[in-house]
Amino acid sequence: MNQTFVMCKPDAVERSLVGEIIARFERKGFTVRAAELRTASVALAEAHYAEHADKPFYGELVSFLTRSPVLAMILEGPADNTFSLVRKIVGATKVDDAEPGTIRGDFATITSENLVHASDGHDSAVREIALWFPQGH
Ligand code: PPS
Repeated sequence: MNQTFVMCKPDAVERSLVGEIIARFERKGFTVRAAELRTASVALAEAHYAEHADKPFYGELVSFLTRSPVLAMILEGPADNTFSLVRKIVGATKVDDAEPGTIRGDFATITSENLVHASDGHDSAVREIALWFPQGH
């Protein structure tokens, strides 16, 4: 699949980094196919992070994601490697591992506030697009 799900998390919107983040994806060659600014419900946040329900920081994840609006997006590229190229632009999850030049490496200092979520594979992209854009796009 040549589409993936990407979200500017609450910290990105609060810090007015949305334009900077989208610009990086667009400059690379990806197109924004859908975008919606919304405050996630607890139910949506719990469903989004369902695979992490047993993690000690699950409660923190849900309260973080629901604290203020996020920008949910579908990005599209020319080939089925879209999700992996997007994740390279985002950078490593842990801020100590995120290299300069990536979004997290350039702008994030705390792992729990790492600015962007991006699907980690084809299956998660399909699931997350359906979860956030149930009406289609
Ligand atoms: S794990 O533990 O390796 O399975 O976690 P990971 O898949 O790397 O991350 C799952 C999501 O949780 C976020 N995360 C954290 N939040 C709060 N505190 C800590 N310590 C923490 N570690 C990871 C991480 O950013 C992932 O969220 P998304 O939205 O997918 O980036």
